[in-house]
Amino acid sequence: MAEFTLPANSVVREGKTYKADSGAKNVKRFIIYRYDPSTGENPRTDTYEVDLDKCGPMVLDALLKIKGEMDASLSLRRSCREGICGSCSMNIDGQNTLACTKAIDEIKGDVKVYPLPHQSVVKDLVSDLTNFYAQYASVEPWMKTESATPPDRERLQSKADRAKLDGLYECILCACCSTSCPSYWWNSDRYLGPAALLNAYRWIVDSRDEATGERLDELEDPFKLYRCHTIMNCTTVCPKGLNPAKAIAETKKLMVQRRM
Ligand code: SF4
Ligand code: SF4
Ligand code: FES
Repeated sequence: MAEFTLPANSVVREGKTYKADSGAKNVKRFIIYRYDPSTGENPRTDTYEVDLDKCGPMVLDALLKIKGEMDASLSLRRSCREGICGSCSMNIDGQNTLACTKAIDEIKGDVKVYPLPHQSVVKDLVSDLTNFYAQYASVEPWMKTESATPPDRERLQSKADRAKLDGLYECILCACCSTSCPSYWWNSDRYLGPAALLNAYRWIVDSRDEATGERLDELEDPFKLYRCHTIMNCTTVCPKGLNPAKAIAETKKLMVQRRM
């Protein structure tokens, strides 16, 4: 039987505990992954006792309270704090989601917070999404046309054609789906992953786009598209309620139809 030995510096150690004030009556423990590759030290988990009576309701509120009042060295991304920008994606209580829309009271027991899985870590909860964004750019997510632009108006679309974009254009590129996909974990250098593929499909089905054939040609590849094995993790975790697995299945269907 094959035996694997993990490198010594991959072991996650137990770190420090930051206590709540002695008068706090409503305390929740946040166990947070800490790693700074520039130090050469192992990753660790630090524990922060947060007084929920003095904290907002969402996990992001607690993380910002920790950073602001207990430990300024904690690194995380965030911007809009209302599920629009996609920057606060992380793994909370074992599932990829947005810290700003995840309510603390949905989580029983300690709150475990890790960066998005299977990505390099820049620091603490900040994953390196360089490859993810490059894959998004590779599907050329903009309208491509060859016909002349109408001189007096926009390119129009019927209501039925516009409706085909619902469930696609709302993607906020948080990467929760791609980083929960086992096929993406093992082949993220060649498999585009659910987020990029959902966005590719968004332009494939746009009635105004005139590069459908080229877009399908680009995806006709054993890895880029066909590494999806319909495991459905992507659809389960999407915090915007989108269905990347369906978009991928529809793309595969178009590939078959154009050969008939
Ligand atoms: S359905 Fe496809 S893209 Fe989604 S998690 Fe499964 S393999 Fe990954
Ligand atoms: S499909 Fe959903 S989970 Fe994936 S990047 Fe877009 S919003 Fe995030
Ligand atoms: S901070 Fe923008 S989605 Fe959470």
